[in-house]
Amino acid sequence: MSELKKGTLLDFGRYRILKKIGSGGFSYVYLAEDIKEKKYVAIKESFSPNKCIRDNNAKIVNGRIDKNSDKFDSCQKRFVDEYNMLKNMIHPNIVRVYDLFEDNHTYYYTMEYIEGKSLNEYIKHENGLKEQVAVNIIREVCKAISDVHNHNICHYDINPNNILLRKGTMQPILIDFGLAKKYKSKDEKLDNSYRTLTIAYSPLELFEKDGMDYFSPQSDIFSLGATLYTAIIGSPPPSLKEIWHGALKENVKKMSLKVQNAIIASMQIIKDNRPSDVGAFVNML
Ligand SMILES: Nc1ncnc2c1ncn2[C@@H]1O[C@H](COP(=O)(O)OP(=O)(O)O)[C@@H](O)[C@H]1O
Ligand SMILES: [Mg+2]
Repeated sequence: MSELKKGTLLDFGRYRILKKIGSGGFSYVYLAEDIKEKKYVAIKESFSPNKCIRDNNAKIVNGRIDKNSDKFDSCQKRFVDEYNMLKNMIHPNIVRVYDLFEDNHTYYYTMEYIEGKSLNEYIKHENGLKEQVAVNIIREVCKAISDVHNHNICHYDINPNNILLRKGTMQPILIDFGLAKKYKSKDEKLDNSYRTLTIAYSPLELFEKDGMDYFSPQSDIFSLGATLYTAIIGSPPPSLKEIWHGALKENVKKMSLKVQNAIIASMQIIKDNRPSDVGAFVNML
């Protein structure tokens, strides 16, 4: 286990780690106590098990001293980019980040701790949601994504694990800008090969080498449609190959015609055939 132990202090003793609450290929997320402000926070740590190791006291993170050290640096840069994108996003449906700091030779950012379930856990618990409940959640997420796109950012990783439902109100909160990209303008070309995709929620163009080079709201619209599909059906959508062979139409038959059309339109294999912006997608719901 390479996560930080319970009780570990960070940022000159300001935060105390309570437990790990999530992990992915590039990070750990912890519940921690902000000792100064006397409140809970979530802390995301830049840590890629494939690219870094901890020292003997299980704290300090080092880029592996082999061919991966360049990758370690690029992961650190991406993590800072993720924080900077989130810092500028102030929206009721997007997680609020507070601070970025360095400790243990790596980066951390703190954010509001969202108590509750992920949309994925909720869907599993309910074995699929009522259509109207699912549509209402996706509508809220669309508000967040619309704002993200207005900042010339594409999220590129919308899926039921990256949407948290606040306990009590069930308000959906978008998290995880780890794959997001910010473009200077709608036409700017990025030179960026970094990608790890969430299969079943990622459209075909993101698997192509230059798939993220240009601002591409329709790529997020595919993922919104795929997330809506999962929310109603209770399991992820068919593969791109199966969609190509018409599987989607068959599976959505029990939904209202409106929602069927919205899902089929948003999950078109050819990007230009999808609604051109979030507003057009929401109007179909
Ligand atoms: N602010 C938060 N409040 C509560 N739980 C969170 C928060 N941020 C992340 N998590 C939990 O940690 C998991 C991983 O976080 P995420 O940012 O998606 O990291 P990754 O890039 O590794 O997927 C999430 O799926 C969620 O369960
Ligand atoms: Mg995630």
